[in-house]
Amino acid sequence: MGASGSGKTSMRSMIFSNNPASLTSRLGATIDVEQNHVRFLGDLILNLWDCGGQDAFMDSYLSTQRSVIFSHVGVMIYVFDVESREMEKDLEYYRDCLDGLSQFSKDANVFLLVHKIDLVRDTERNAVVQRKVAELEKASGETSVKVFGTSIYDESLYKAWSNIVNTLIPNARNLSKHLRIFAEACSATEVILFERTTFLVIATSSRTDSSDAFPSGPVVLHALDPKRYERTSELIKAFKQSCSRLREEFRSLEMELAEFTAVLDEMTKNTYVLVVVHDPVIETAAIKMNICMARKKFE
Ligand code: GTP
Repeated sequence: MGASGSGKTSMRSMIFSNNPASLTSRLGATIDVEQNHVRFLGDLILNLWDCGGQDAFMDSYLSTQRSVIFSHVGVMIYVFDVESREMEKDLEYYRDCLDGLSQFSKDANVFLLVHKIDLVRDTERNAVVQRKVAELEKASGETSVKVFGTSIYDESLYKAWSNIVNTLIPNARNLSKHLRIFAEACSATEVILFERTTFLVIATSSRTDSSDAFPSGPVVLHALDPKRYERTSELIKAFKQSCSRLREEFRSLEMELAEFTAVLDEMTKNTYVLVVVHDPVIETAAIKMNICMARKKFE
């Protein structure tokens, strides 16, 4: 959901159809609701509804189509253009959508994306997002919401969408537990599991059970970049696109650097695993062998 031109179709086409950001300017306005069934992790089907944001459509969602639009909602993602000149109107529609949700899908999670943050100067970005967070939390009243600043031109989009999708994966916590055991077995600093087509982060070995935040900070001796998950998603997707331009299929990746070794390889038919090891004694071949032996457990 969100005003026309706020960027809903753009982000959907990047995450789920692997389109590059540069092609999003060619997208036309969405007419009414575009439904997509995305196969995710093999058996899980994400039913994505991209609701065109022009006023006439919004008015119809909130009146005649109300019960259809707001029933059986798992997650509502409301996109706000950070430079919107009609914030009052956007908030009014947003509050009406919250009413619709509370009527038909009380348990739905609500994610708010303050989108196009690339349009805000670097030095002001944090302050602008913080201001928007406060404004949106106030407008949400009693409803608990998660707010992210996003842009299709950097990794922030992957962070938000990994969090969104994570709320829909039934056994995500279990996966993290198994990844932690696997990380210990490999003496790895960290192990990350990605969904195969979207390359969104599904689980990490660093996640603590008590934390709501996803992904949470790791308890390791090495200083790790807090943006490493979403940066990896973004980089690998770009790399996959380059491979397909050369008519090659991306299969796996190995990196042996002075400070660490990293192996990215298929874990199951629907996932990829990234194992990062800082211990120089551990050979790449040993990591690959461990991945191979763990496959059955993760299928
Ligand atoms: P409706 O279908 O009418 O509801 O609009 P929409 O929300 O689906 O918007 P759409 O995805 O079509 O995007 C509108 C324009 O915003 C496109 O020209 C995109 O290239 C641009 N856009 C999308 N995301 C971003 C972003 O993160 N930053 C910038 N600068 N532009 C973006």
